[in-house]
Amino acid sequence: MADLGRTVSFAVGLYRGRLDYLYHGYLRRDPMSLLRLRPGRDNPYAIYRGMPRFGPTRIGNWVTTSHHLCNTVLRDRRFGVRAAELTAVPKTADEFDMSFLDKDPPDHTRLRRLAQPAFSPKQMAGYRPRIERTVDDLLDRAAAAGEFDLVPAYAAPLPITVITDLLGVPDADADRFARYGAVIASALDGIHSLSHAARLQSADRDLRALFEGLFELRRREPADDLVSRIVAAEGDRIQSREMVPMCSLLLVAGFETTVNLVGNAVNALLDNPEQWEALCADPAGLAGAAVEETLRYDPPVQRTARCALEDLDLDGHPIRRGQFVVTLIGAANRDPEAFPEPDTFDIGRAQTADHLAFSSGIHYCIGQPLARLEAEIALRRLAERMPRLRRAGPLRRRASGIVRGPIRLPVRTGARALSAHR
Ligand code: HEM
Repeated sequence: MADLGRTVSFAVGLYRGRLDYLYHGYLRRDPMSLLRLRPGRDNPYAIYRGMPRFGPTRIGNWVTTSHHLCNTVLRDRRFGVRAAELTAVPKTADEFDMSFLDKDPPDHTRLRRLAQPAFSPKQMAGYRPRIERTVDDLLDRAAAAGEFDLVPAYAAPLPITVITDLLGVPDADADRFARYGAVIASALDGIHSLSHAARLQSADRDLRALFEGLFELRRREPADDLVSRIVAAEGDRIQSREMVPMCSLLLVAGFETTVNLVGNAVNALLDNPEQWEALCADPAGLAGAAVEETLRYDPPVQRTARCALEDLDLDGHPIRRGQFVVTLIGAANRDPEAFPEPDTFDIGRAQTADHLAFSSGIHYCIGQPLARLEAEIALRRLAERMPRLRRAGPLRRRASGIVRGPIRLPVRTGARALSAHR
């Protein structure tokens, strides 16, 4: 009976929340509500342009589109992420534990330090040949087909292969880890329905069991991977209950973001044929710049937020303890005060400021060297091998306002797809 009561009140809350966004978005033209609806998913940049640089949200928090203010908030230690302890809204038991992404120091520092060595320059150099091999295998298959969907055939399998490898998941289990991880990742933007909530619960249970099995394996047979390092630190630098959340965070963050970076890059390049031609003329020289310009122009993570840990003044704006500031990364990356002609996609752009696609401050993305390496190799090899790449159908976007990227991007290779072994 108690379960039924909880389910009913959860369902009522869910649908009331949805109606609230529809009402405030479409009828009151509230930009934060619109960002959660179709107009925000289709073109958030048009909405950002109509917003003030800093202003209140309708639920008593703050939001900023300014590059300077986003960067300041993300770096300022008077802000944190442990909102539940300061606000009237406690965390519910069924909310996912996002490990150190969701923690302030000292827990954040302790857990992040444990994962950090997996992303060292030496480790990255070790991943390069594996990434190149995976990319070429995927392109061989795509070239044979002639026409293919870039997301499931190219952008998605690459990060899944790499992150399961980094964690130490045996090849035979990689598909199951990826399947459950994708269900969990679908909750990043909130839970959409009761059946979604049920799928999440079951994926969470299954993923937990898979990780527990992997911990057992690596206790018996340690290897040179992140899970082996985590089990070796158990009880000393990491508590047993913190191990599954950390591995789930890395799994989900590892493949739900890079896929969108590659998808958004190819989409922007196909929209701007002169930029695609420039890349094809010098793939090795320009692939890195194309990745950086995509991260600025159309970042896969569009926003994050911080909670004030004390009453404070932010450039003349008084913020009370417990209030959030939503930092609109996608808007900050198009702030004309930081980037001249911000709506132009230009892979030859002179660097005038750091984009905030990987955030800033102590939560600066730990996986960014890997994401950059994967995307750089993926774009370079695509331009080298398929210089006549064209669209073959309409793009479809994922149904999320926070994580931005295509779920379908049909392309054709054109006549001159080159083999990996020229
Ligand atoms: C294009 C790809 C990626 C993008 C755009 C991205 C974006 C971000 C952003 C914006 C944050 C900080 C959120 C905040 O400040 O609240 C973050 C943190 C994080 N990212 Fe990434 N990420 C990417 C790839 C990856 C990869 C490949 C991994 C792991 C293999 C990863 C693991 C993490 C982790 C563990 C954190 C938490 C860091 C902390 O709290 O200290 N990310 N990422």
